[in-house]
Amino acid sequence: MDIICGRIYRNGIHRACIGIENGKIVAIAHHLEGKKTDYGNALIFPAAVDIHVHFREPGQEYKEDFFTGTRAAALSGVTCVLDMPNNRPAIVTKDAFEEKAALVRDKACIDFGLYGGITEKFEDMPCIAYKTFLSKDNEIFCSSDRIEHVLRAVKGAEKPLVIHAELEECIERDTPKNLKEHERSRRAECEIAAVREVLKANGHIHAKIHFCHLTTPEAVEMAKGRASYGVTPHHLLFSCERSFTHEAWGKVNPPLRSERERKKLYEHFIHGEIPILESDHAPHTREEKEDFEQAPSGMPGANAMIPLMLYRVKRGDISLDRLFHMVCKNPAAFFGIPKGSIEVGKDADFMVIDFEKEQEIKPRSKCGWSPYKGWPCIYPSHVYLRGEKIVEEYEFVGGAGMGKMIQ
Ligand code: DOR
Ligand code: ZN
Repeated sequence: MDIICGRIYRNGIHRACIGIENGKIVAIAHHLEGKKTDYGNALIFPAAVDIHVHFREPGQEYKEDFFTGTRAAALSGVTCVLDMPNNRPAIVTKDAFEEKAALVRDKACIDFGLYGGITEKFEDMPCIAYKTFLSKDNEIFCSSDRIEHVLRAVKGAEKPLVIHAELEECIERDTPKNLKEHERSRRAECEIAAVREVLKANGHIHAKIHFCHLTTPEAVEMAKGRASYGVTPHHLLFSCERSFTHEAWGKVNPPLRSERERKKLYEHFIHGEIPILESDHAPHTREEKEDFEQAPSGMPGANAMIPLMLYRVKRGDISLDRLFHMVCKNPAAFFGIPKGSIEVGKDADFMVIDFEKEQEIKPRSKCGWSPYKGWPCIYPSHVYLRGEKIVEEYEFVGGAGMGKMIQ
């Protein structure tokens, strides 16, 4: 049995040892006998699950691939990602799903699940969950009058559905020239209306649903108690009033809101009304992000989410317990992933944190930039995936193919 000791995060923080066999936690006790690694006073916290990344395989590997994406996530304390299906080709058939799974399997450094895309037609796929968009931004589009059909289909398949909640009929499809115009073209009302429509349709179906990246306190209020929902670090930390190195770095969908709206969302985050934090890591190259009108929406974030949030824990904005729920416990529980807490029977996935060691965000994505570059943060010093060390003294020591697909 391998043994890791330190100050363990489990119903509070207590000095203890964790026993590991075959990648699982098999014992937690004051003293355990075996091959021991002792982290002394450092905190041993469950590794995080990021339920929303775009690692761009197949088709856009020049922006990111499964090796670079999972390595960036690993270095930030994430040992499981759920990858989105808006690839080239879009993952909307079983064949496309299986080709993608075969392609990425040998490249993943951490565990992963793949979403299947649902258009108006349902295809059975061995995916962890389904994703649909109510906005026509890519091929995976479902019009609001078909959502009921989609909800019934996922309910029948007993899989969760995650929803990009911006209503197509509300979006003004002109060509915004800056972040404020982009925000005006996809107003808060588009999100609020989408959430309202889906909740109404799901009222008598009761499919298991998650609203991705909500940006407005109104949508959060509406979804509370009726669905799972997430917010991203960028909607919490940036507004459309902020200046970026290139204006298009801040171009994302749904858009960054006004500073006033952002502050209100941050209040919800502080006061514990956000169940899940998701990075929506959506990398595009520097060149693609130079010209605002032409630039695709999306920014990288998988490597920054946990380190930025650990820094906010240190600063006292949020408690460690809130962070635990938003990035470990709730995401794992919603998707039925055997991770997200330090308990016997769970995967032995941890991060070791020294809160004294402040660093700055470094761009880690293949796209080569980060809107958070230089921001103060706390990276985990060590990360374990199913009992194997994949980060040691802030350096990646894992390898391609170590990650397993979760279905
Ligand atoms: O900003 C975004 N980028 N929003 C999305 O919904 C898609 C994503 C991407 O794939 O680039
Ligand atoms: Zn996304």
